[in-house]
Amino acid sequence: MKVTVFGGGYVGLVTSACLAHVGHHVVCVDQNETRVALLQRGICPIFEPGLEDYLLEGQQEQLIEFTCDAQLAVAHGDVIFIAVGTPTDEDGTADTRHVLSVAKTIGDYLAKPSVVVTKSTVPVGTADRVSEVVQQQLRQRGADISFEVASNPEFLKEGAALADFMKPDRIILGTSSGRVEALMRELYAPFNRNHERLLVMDVRSAELTKYAANAMLATKISFINEIANLAEHLGADIEKVRQGIGSDPRIGYHFIYPGCGYGGSCFPKDVQALQATAHKVGYEAHLLSAVQQVNAHQKQRLFDKVNSYFDGQLAGKVIALWGLAFKPRTDDMREAPSRVLMEALWQGGAAVQAYDPQAMEECQRIYGDRKDLALMGTKEAAVKGADALVICTEWKHFWAPDFAQLAEKMNQKVIVDGRNLYDPKKMSALGFDYLAVGRGA
Ligand code: UGA
Repeated sequence: MKVTVFGGGYVGLVTSACLAHVGHHVVCVDQNETRVALLQRGICPIFEPGLEDYLLEGQQEQLIEFTCDAQLAVAHGDVIFIAVGTPTDEDGTADTRHVLSVAKTIGDYLAKPSVVVTKSTVPVGTADRVSEVVQQQLRQRGADISFEVASNPEFLKEGAALADFMKPDRIILGTSSGRVEALMRELYAPFNRNHERLLVMDVRSAELTKYAANAMLATKISFINEIANLAEHLGADIEKVRQGIGSDPRIGYHFIYPGCGYGGSCFPKDVQALQATAHKVGYEAHLLSAVQQVNAHQKQRLFDKVNSYFDGQLAGKVIALWGLAFKPRTDDMREAPSRVLMEALWQGGAAVQAYDPQAMEECQRIYGDRKDLALMGTKEAAVKGADALVICTEWKHFWAPDFAQLAEKMNQKVIVDGRNLYDPKKMSALGFDYLAVGRGA
């Protein structure tokens, strides 16, 4: 099938790569010339395990093409995906400017009957707006070409995006048209084998499903973080409590790991956007504001622990930091807890020695050269002469360090663990002051 994907960002590239992998003919269009030039040379501009190989394979088999030529791209696809970014607007809602500008381009160039599919995470009602904009452009051109707009939100996790796309839990399709459903069934048939994964519903419900899924997951995280904080006050151990509640299948073990707050490009933005959408229609989403408040507080907690350990005397201290990315298997530092921590430490006069297996370049890009940040080549180098080590990301790399070596290299044996990687009893037997999350027992 002929598919066009607008957007060579995270969602657009994964969608393009996976659709080409199963044999569809994909044209991926982006207005960023540098990005397209890189992609044409087989270089993937983002870090995602396996993505570059898929893109190369698609290009070698001539199933995927990258271009800046929107007219060519619109003419190609029977299905045209919109997978461009939706940054946060001033009022907290998702800014659909790019989505609607693509809709305008589609209306300008549409040459044959096509299905336009919104894949970006967009506020409820956006597919209707896209439809209006395409229609308006067609009318201006005096063109009478039939098209339909469907919603097909994406549920990729960074670091596991290819597996998520190739073996989805569900494929959400918002459409009331039997013709569109049949076409999308054909498109997704290779991903919908063995058991039915396609859930067809009206467009608005599909749009809301995406936000509801992310808001629910964020709520689980803020909930467990709240209980973790309470556990510290009550002398209980959140890791015991987590297993105690997770064993109830109605609760489940997933997404109840306490930590230093959720980050990334999705949860913070989407929860805020859903709350703003609610506000716009006159509904106050109290739970969603609480989820965000708890998360903002949680991101501060690592700093609070370090600061109170040193009685607020941070000037001149050297703090080692393991993990800059918002989670393992990515170099993404958007809304990462490490940023809140570093910025607060610098404010307090401390210097940071940081290490991350993937996000060093990203950190350099964000913060540039500063005297109080040293990006170290290994996790061992990061702890040299440090007064404390703080763990922000649970890379496997950090799960079983040589503690004797750590003790030798560090100036003081202090570990603040934002991901509860170690056994508190073992740590205290080794002579470390070990401050984890929610482990008051
Ligand atoms: C998230 C969702 O998991 C995907 O299903 C969704 O498609 C995606 O957003 C999106 O909307 O595009 P992602 O942002 O890649 O995916 O990352 P997650 O693996 O969900 O992690 C998000 C944050 O939650 C991380 O900071 C992580 O450390 C934190 N987290 C996760 C916890 O603190 N505790 C947990 O138990 C789980």
